[in-house]
Amino acid sequence: MDRIQIRGGRRLNGEIRISGAKNAALPLMVASLLTDEPLTLACVPHLTDISQLAEILAGLGVEITMNGNGHAEAAIGRVLKLHAKTITSTEAPYELVRKMRASFLVIGPLLARCHKAKVSLPGGCAIGTRPVDLHLKGLEAMGAQIELKEGYVYASAPGGLHGAHILFPFVSVGATENLMMAASIAKGTTIIENAASEPEIIDLGHCLQAMGAKIEGLGTRTLTIEGVERLKGTSHTVLPDRIETGTYLMAVAAAGGEVELVGTRADLLGGVIPLLESAGVHIQATNRGMRVARNGVHFTGVDVTTEPYPGFPTDLQAQLMALMATANGVSHISETIFENRFMHVPELMRMGADITIEHQTATVRGVERLHGAPVMATDLRASVSLIIAGLAAEGETIVNRVYHLDRGFERIEEKLSALGADIKRVKG
Ligand code: UD1
Repeated sequence: MDRIQIRGGRRLNGEIRISGAKNAALPLMVASLLTDEPLTLACVPHLTDISQLAEILAGLGVEITMNGNGHAEAAIGRVLKLHAKTITSTEAPYELVRKMRASFLVIGPLLARCHKAKVSLPGGCAIGTRPVDLHLKGLEAMGAQIELKEGYVYASAPGGLHGAHILFPFVSVGATENLMMAASIAKGTTIIENAASEPEIIDLGHCLQAMGAKIEGLGTRTLTIEGVERLKGTSHTVLPDRIETGTYLMAVAAAGGEVELVGTRADLLGGVIPLLESAGVHIQATNRGMRVARNGVHFTGVDVTTEPYPGFPTDLQAQLMALMATANGVSHISETIFENRFMHVPELMRMGADITIEHQTATVRGVERLHGAPVMATDLRASVSLIIAGLAAEGETIVNRVYHLDRGFERIEEKLSALGADIKRVKG
């Protein structure tokens, strides 16, 4: 299994390009199931989650072609053409779905277009129980019959899906995406209340609109979707990855230096930029993206609670904790989205961090310096927090189980090396 080896203490300088957002690209790929015309997506990041979803879609009959390999001149990602001319299977098997929760999104579009689906209950990062009850209740309200058997969801809607009024008890990104896609070609109007308003939802909504969907309220908590008979193909560019952007902001803040993040947008980051600025990190918009700098002056601890967008994202919580491990003063970091998302804490403590957890809140007392150590990546965002810690630490850090990283961070060791970090992948 590959490992990442880092010798910490080097400042980061230069520029890197931010990739297309994984969490936008995945639902956009699934949207191809809604039309028999081709959907072309540009700026798709080169990640294992993307290739795994492509495999699932191919199994359903989607013809997929890719241009660009995600390297060198194709650094702005790949162009993916997905053509679901005929759906040849409505089954998404356990072996594929268990690897990535986002693949559960196929259930809504399959039901809407083919009136039936058999989809394995999902896997994904082990950051909590992560049920799919909201997805299923929403589809039931739209007329689907659902049966759970042997780890699979058997869903059918013999007369097709119809519009419904759905009120989510709490915000779910995935359930909003699933139902928004299904509702686009259901009969009648669907209203989703307490919908997610993440930039990735808006991106999906824009693509669906370009395909002919009638969606109102994108970016608000209420979505109104008037079903149309059929959607057509379109071309769409995936928006920049705000989680990758935030991760590099924190990496530079932790290691010191000055870096321009090219191709990203400050408006996607919600409360993240003001929070980092309040800690003493300098961030400035440029005409190509943004510049982050920490030269000399140290940063201070912050208090933060993860929340749905535009609040602080749970997907940046681990990275913020790695940064705050060496802040001046104490930080309180509360996780409200997932119940088991502090698995990076014992690993950061192996590197000398001073962290205690009580219920949903981690108290991080900044220490002068972290020390390199062998550590274990436990999930996607936790893995990258250990890289940030390793960049700031004294000595050598080995991050084991890096396959998690490859699911969500495009060419991370290449990008960090280009900025001057001493980081390499050790095969084996
Ligand atoms: C998406 C993101 C993930 C991010 C998360 C929260 C993708 C591919 N993944 O995941 O990176 O961390 O949003 O911003 O976009 N829940 C239920 N029942 C459901 C659905 C969700 O109880 O039917 C719970 C989950 O367990 C979790 C919370 O709702 O506690 C939020 O989950 P959700 O927003 O659905 O996350 P994902 O869409 O899986």
